Amino acid sequence: MTASHSDAFVFFGATGDLAYKKIFPALQAMIKHGHLDLPIIGVAKSGWNLDQFRDRARDSLEKHGGLDADAFAKLAARLHYISGDYQDDATYAQLRRALGDAVRPLHYLAIPPSMFESVTQGLAKSGCARDARVIVEKPFGRDLASAQALNRTLLTSFAEDAIFRIDHYLAKEAVENLIYFRFANTFIEPVWHRDYVASVQITMAEQFGVQGRGAFYEEVGAIRDVVQNHMLQVMTLLTMEIPLDGGPDAIRDEKLRVLCAMRPLVPAEVVRGQFRDYHDEAGVSPDSQVETFAALRLHIDNTRWAGVPFYIRAGKQLPVTCTEVMIELKPPSHAVFDADSSGQLNYFRFRLSPDVLITVGARTKVPGESMVGAATELIAHHHPCDEMTPYERLLGDALHGDASLFARGDTVEAAWRVVDPILGNAVPVAAYEPDTWGPPAAWQIMAGDDQWHNPALEETSP
Ligand code: BG6
Repeated sequence: MTASHSDAFVFFGATGDLAYKKIFPALQAMIKHGHLDLPIIGVAKSGWNLDQFRDRARDSLEKHGGLDADAFAKLAARLHYISGDYQDDATYAQLRRALGDAVRPLHYLAIPPSMFESVTQGLAKSGCARDARVIVEKPFGRDLASAQALNRTLLTSFAEDAIFRIDHYLAKEAVENLIYFRFANTFIEPVWHRDYVASVQITMAEQFGVQGRGAFYEEVGAIRDVVQNHMLQVMTLLTMEIPLDGGPDAIRDEKLRVLCAMRPLVPAEVVRGQFRDYHDEAGVSPDSQVETFAALRLHIDNTRWAGVPFYIRAGKQLPVTCTEVMIELKPPSHAVFDADSSGQLNYFRFRLSPDVLITVGARTKVPGESMVGAATELIAHHHPCDEMTPYERLLGDALHGDASLFARGDTVEAAWRVVDPILGNAVPVAAYEPDTWGPPAAWQIMAGDDQWHNPALEETSP
């Protein structure tokens, strides 16, 4: 398929939560920025008419990001609505008619994965899949076997380069900057190696709970919701070998290689936690064993990373909302100064959210007669937040056929292979108090003297 621009945007699940919170705001922003001028067709089985659908769009924008009168008027004029059952051929016949002369529609499956098969088949049978592209949401499957089955289903009707698997973390400015900073600077590569790196940790902390998404969360839990995708994607960007070029396939080939070198997780190196009162959330079972927190220790069995511990921690109801990567370097091989100092040594710190921050930890001498040092931090980059939301960026890229910021089928399967052994209740879930850093057991997976770095938003805003 050539990378020509799609000429219609179709979204299934048009009256659902994802459309309400993310898709309408992204569509309005694209129109406002002059990036979207095509028919927009919502499909759902609510029995609504077009006016009700437009009201839903208006309501979504009022609650999520704000209504822009001009852009909304254009959006409302481009909206079409098809009410129908996803199992019914008549729904796809209506869609085919609504597509009119469009030859390269983009279909967004903003629906539960259990419906992917029927919708994919309906699109194929009706001719709506011909030369089309498809976007699918994360989590892509529930485990390795279901992700493989899902890939097979999609590949019956769409070529790999027409399938866009969303991981919105990849479209964050700070996440793109990880590989830019890594590969555009000469001073990084020599130390980016087991000889110099002591440990790597990634913490994705969220101060809020499940925010009314109890029923969804019960199906996933923290490991499926953010570890298998967002956290492992960040880890691959930090650890992959240098790609041949900056193109999507060169980068995704290297991601695949390092994912294949990650050792599948074992229960002894995983801690699962659940915040107190999670059971009181709507849609949550009273005896739920689903984790709202996970801490894991990972290993990469290759020349660059053998023996370096990698830690991932993600959770809800933690003391702060912040995602940070901390790469600690080993102490100098011969301690000329600070021989018995237990102070902070060299490190790289990347904040991925809520703002973009890259710092380098160093030691400098404290003024005075003795050769005593103190920790200091060099701020390489500090930027408020993304100008474009990840969803606006991703929808625009998919319409252009640019898959760089989407996950390729083989890398998604390789990431499931890493987490597959610890899914379900392979590790018992431990309770933790809201506003703490998870169950105390999270410390037990640390190797040697390693300690969790708890992100804090102490810096002033840029
Ligand atoms: C989503 C998860 O993929 O990412 C949510 O389903 C999580 O549970 C969210 O809160 C975090 O993303 P962001 O961009 O809001 O930090």
